[in-house]
Amino acid sequence: MKLVSGIEDVRDWVSSHRARGASVSLVPTMGNLHAGHRALIRRARADNDIVVVSLYVNPFQFGPTEDLATYPRTEAEDRAVMLEDGVDLLFMPADKVMYPRGLEHQTRVEVPHLGSILEGSSRPVFFRGVTTVVNRLLNITQPDVAYFGKKDYQQMVIIKRMISDLAMPVDIVGIDTVRDGDGLALSSRNSYLTPAERRIAPALHRGLCRGIDRLKHAHPDLDRVENGVVNDWTGAGIEPDYVSVRRRSDLELPEVGDRDLVILGAGYVGTTRLIDNVEFDVDP
Ligand code: PAF
Repeated sequence: MKLVSGIEDVRDWVSSHRARGASVSLVPTMGNLHAGHRALIRRARADNDIVVVSLYVNPFQFGPTEDLATYPRTEAEDRAVMLEDGVDLLFMPADKVMYPRGLEHQTRVEVPHLGSILEGSSRPVFFRGVTTVVNRLLNITQPDVAYFGKKDYQQMVIIKRMISDLAMPVDIVGIDTVRDGDGLALSSRNSYLTPAERRIAPALHRGLCRGIDRLKHAHPDLDRVENGVVNDWTGAGIEPDYVSVRRRSDLELPEVGDRDLVILGAGYVGTTRLIDNVEFDVDP
């Protein structure tokens, strides 16, 4: 595995492989790799000649009160995982490579509306930071395809929208969420949970699944279903932020006849904010 930190180094390396006809993939990460990231890397490995992984904890997507300073950094372990999973190129830029003029003067990429609903209403700068850094990472690495986890469902939908709106020549592939045996979605932020909180956290996924069940079999009233999940979470010791059933394609509220849906939510387990979602189909 080759390690590079400069833009020209990535470009030269990628274009030399592209010149011989190789297909190039990118898996963008902030490190602290777990089985969820490995599912992205392994899919990239299976489907492409070249796998590039970026490791960059992007300061632009953290709000002023969020966990940038404490975000888990495990570079040595991450590199060992990447070697094992057959990554070809690791791109690990410094802040001055990603934002040479500083954050204040960085050109921003923003997806209106989609970036301000759901997660965006609780984390106002988050998606602007994500789309700005992903746009830059894609321009630097120039892959044919990039892989994102469905655990961050809204992030995946927003990135697809950015690609479409800016006519960027790259395919975006979403990969299913990897869960622990008790249903908890894998996330770097799970490491913030105390043992007692870890026992509570699976109720997040359980509540969403019960919500889908009620929607399909008991009452098709979205407000009642969402309130049911909120009550389940509260009863289990989770402080809900939001729960919402949306259309999968654009995260708008479902209309009569929409069948491809997703239930998304966020809640606090202690002081740790966790998100989760489950895709589902409704019968015609
Ligand atoms: O999902 C993440 O880890 C990050 O938001 C991403 C896509 C790597 C951008 O910093």
